[in-house]
Amino acid sequence: MISPFISGILATCLGFYQSNVVHSPDRIAQYTQSQDAIIFPTEFLKGVARSCYQDGGHGTWQEYQKPYSNWSAFEDSRIYGNARGVSLTLHSPILHGQKVGKSSHGWERAFDDIALLHELGCNAQRFSVEWTDIEPEEGQFNEEALAFYERYCEALVAQGITPMVTLHHFVHPQWFQDKGGFERSENIAYFVRFSQKVFKRLASNVTLWCTINEPTVLSACGYVLGIHPPGYVGKTQRAGLVLKNLLQAHIEVYSALKAMPRGEEAQIGLVHQMLCFEPYHYFVNKTLHVKNPIGTMVSHIFNYSFAHAPVKYFLETGKFSFFGVEYVDARAPHSYDFIGLNFYSKVVIGFGPTQYEGQIKTDMDYAIRPDLLYDALKEMADLGKPIYVTETGLADAKDTNRAFCITSYMRAIDRALKNGIPVKGVFYWSLIDNFEWNDGFDMKFGLYAVDPISKERTLREGSKAYRDILVSQR
Ligand code: BGC
Repeated sequence: MISPFISGILATCLGFYQSNVVHSPDRIAQYTQSQDAIIFPTEFLKGVARSCYQDGGHGTWQEYQKPYSNWSAFEDSRIYGNARGVSLTLHSPILHGQKVGKSSHGWERAFDDIALLHELGCNAQRFSVEWTDIEPEEGQFNEEALAFYERYCEALVAQGITPMVTLHHFVHPQWFQDKGGFERSENIAYFVRFSQKVFKRLASNVTLWCTINEPTVLSACGYVLGIHPPGYVGKTQRAGLVLKNLLQAHIEVYSALKAMPRGEEAQIGLVHQMLCFEPYHYFVNKTLHVKNPIGTMVSHIFNYSFAHAPVKYFLETGKFSFFGVEYVDARAPHSYDFIGLNFYSKVVIGFGPTQYEGQIKTDMDYAIRPDLLYDALKEMADLGKPIYVTETGLADAKDTNRAFCITSYMRAIDRALKNGIPVKGVFYWSLIDNFEWNDGFDMKFGLYAVDPISKERTLREGSKAYRDILVSQR
């Protein structure tokens, strides 16, 4: 456990060294130089991951006014907090004051987009159901939205696409936030009620369920960095409380859904982002091989405090201890049928010059690290449960590194499978360009580019690497 004071100092160190994201050419060579075919097991899920809000904002419904969520409120806010403090801006905290609007017309084109899944050779899709659209006002459930999702899941299944549904992907109704959101454990009951409602309607077509997407990211970005709603900066204890409540909410939802008809056969898991910290290993340059003890120490503290202890340790032991928030729940080790791993990259912490020649960065300013995806899978395998890679991918507007990233990351999964790690599927982030939270529309994660005006979808050249890998599995 580290105090908020020490974590502040560490955050400063991180700020300093965040730019030192590097990759070790030696370690990643095996993923980039091999010519061996990538072979996934027959029953492996090959998919894409999306979130409805990012693809389409909120839906428009006849009976209800436009749903208003914590993200709608964040877009409308004018106080922007970031890691360096709080400042007043003339526009919203989203980059360039952008707003999600109808984003990439995800709602309007949902059914047509199923054809894109076929084009890619996918047999699965992970997507979120939007709580705000389904329960726009407390206790009032939007039948139109529920029916939409029902029809959508039916259509996916009818066309051979296995749906994986995420119940909470960063967005919830503002009425829930007004009650304190996940800061108050009493509010968990609202999320459970919503989840039961959705499960009742969709479980005949859906067996794979993710309760909550990336609890650590939600609490850190919303309560420490201030870049997600509610936009608080440095509220470490509240972040700890929110994280604890999110994990508790996961357990409550798991228990509630398991007790419902079709609950037994449902596979329910939590999605964890493995953004970890690793020491920059060398003081001077890679040929000297002088280990960096300070970087090692700092990164261990970060990993222990943020990346692992709160989620992995809790799932293993039922014990939670974070920024003064203590919680024990003996149900935790039995509260998930799989673990969802979101992996993009790592942050390297180090001192001294930190240049590696040839490092390949994404537009999000982190490096492409297939070796670390492999490490993350190995680490998650400790939990002894099936693993789905529920997200992986990159932002690459120029499309120069997409194929490289896809091939090397799929090779890392292939290697994990060959070494007995129980990976059951991969969901590439994302099908189409979308709203990248506080970065707005500038980050291009889509396998398909979306024309900003016509919303036409076009398969990017680099994305063909994913299609080719998937199609070659048939
Ligand atoms: C989130 C996505 C996000 C992606 C790319 C993940 O943390 O679940 O919503 O768009 O990363 O940054």
